[in-house]
Amino acid sequence: MKNILLTGGIGFIGSHTLVELLNRGYQVAVVDNLVNASEITADRVREITGRDFRFYRADIRDRDAMEKIFAENAFDAVIHFAGLKAVGESCVKPLEYYDNNIYGTLVLLETMRAHNVKELIFSSSATVYGTPESLPLTETSKTGGTTNPYGTTKYEIEGILNDLYRADPTWNITLLRYFNPVGAHPSGRIGEDPKGIPNNLMPYVAQVASGKLQKIRVFGDDYPTPDGTGVRDYIHVVDLARGHIAAIEHLNDPGVHIYNLGTGIGYSVLDMIHAFEKACGKQLPYEICPRRPGDIAACYASAEKAERDLGWKAEYGITEMCRDQWNWQSKNPNGYEA
Ligand code: NAD
Ligand code: WQD
Repeated sequence: MKNILLTGGIGFIGSHTLVELLNRGYQVAVVDNLVNASEITADRVREITGRDFRFYRADIRDRDAMEKIFAENAFDAVIHFAGLKAVGESCVKPLEYYDNNIYGTLVLLETMRAHNVKELIFSSSATVYGTPESLPLTETSKTGGTTNPYGTTKYEIEGILNDLYRADPTWNITLLRYFNPVGAHPSGRIGEDPKGIPNNLMPYVAQVASGKLQKIRVFGDDYPTPDGTGVRDYIHVVDLARGHIAAIEHLNDPGVHIYNLGTGIGYSVLDMIHAFEKACGKQLPYEICPRRPGDIAACYASAEKAERDLGWKAEYGITEMCRDQWNWQSKNPNGYEA
């Protein structure tokens, strides 16, 4: 049975993956500096799973802390979630994003190498595809042309990992390119808890439904899409978490393995609003606003490679995504805050 380190494992996607790993009997340790997470999540994960794990509150850029964590544990593999992820903030604070995401990854990789841990799963993003030339996006679609420092950190880290494997082909690296993760654990005990006003569509919609925010702003209705609003590949976070289990179970051959984790289906902003209205049982006020700078018209995955190679495919649809997001929002109107 594998012993796994999750960096950023208290965050939104990390905590859901932690639940799936603990439920399957994996031994897990987490390092997270709580820059965008609450320690309450760790207790909730223990409560959901009835299992314990080691939690280190530390920054992955702290070499001494990372050295200690690796010295205390015999890890087989690392799932690397830790990173800053707000697109808008990254344009205002590019140096902080490059330092946290890229330098943090370098410290992690150097520590892994020193301890001969060479199995890594990295949280990449559909953002590495920049503006798609054609849809659906496959793993061989062109990457680059990222439009913000956050996206560039993901693209650059993918490049670093490719170089690392080229220099030392004993590394076994999986790049998981997530599309748009939404929803929450069906228990309603863990979910996404954005600080301040949410940037992403679904947490915003959920906060309008709960009365915290007044009105949804739909960024543009003149895109070349069926209803004119932006189209994305939303994926239930529990499906996404299970994609990591599939990847861990297939960490057999050295190499750099790349998988899209999406459903393969694109939904528009209005599709998502209407599905959420059904989930929460009320009409949601929205207004059409100008396009948001940097947005693309449409983005969805071909999810065939993950199904073929990993035997993984998303099981939940838009109904479950909205049901579980609403369940989380209505039970935790202020997120993890009391
Ligand atoms: P999140 O912010 O909820 O989780 C990231 C976690 O990393 C947080 O708990 C944070 O406290 C921690 N962290 C950040 N910097 C750290 C550091 N230097 N040292 C230790 N811990 C640190 O975000 P998430 O949505 O769970 O995303 C997880 C990963 O997936 C990120 O790398 C993100 O870029 C990537 N990703 C997210 C999405 C998305 O839409 N949510 C899409 C594609 C890729
Ligand atoms: C979805 C759609 C908006 C908010 C971002 C990152 C990406 C990845 C996932 C990490 C778009 C529209 C949004 C609102 C709206 N993250 N929208 N009103 O931009 O596809 O992806 O998160 O890797 O890198 O860029 O997600 O949820 O912000 O937007 O109309 O208040 O909803 O224009 O069409 P996005 P999103």
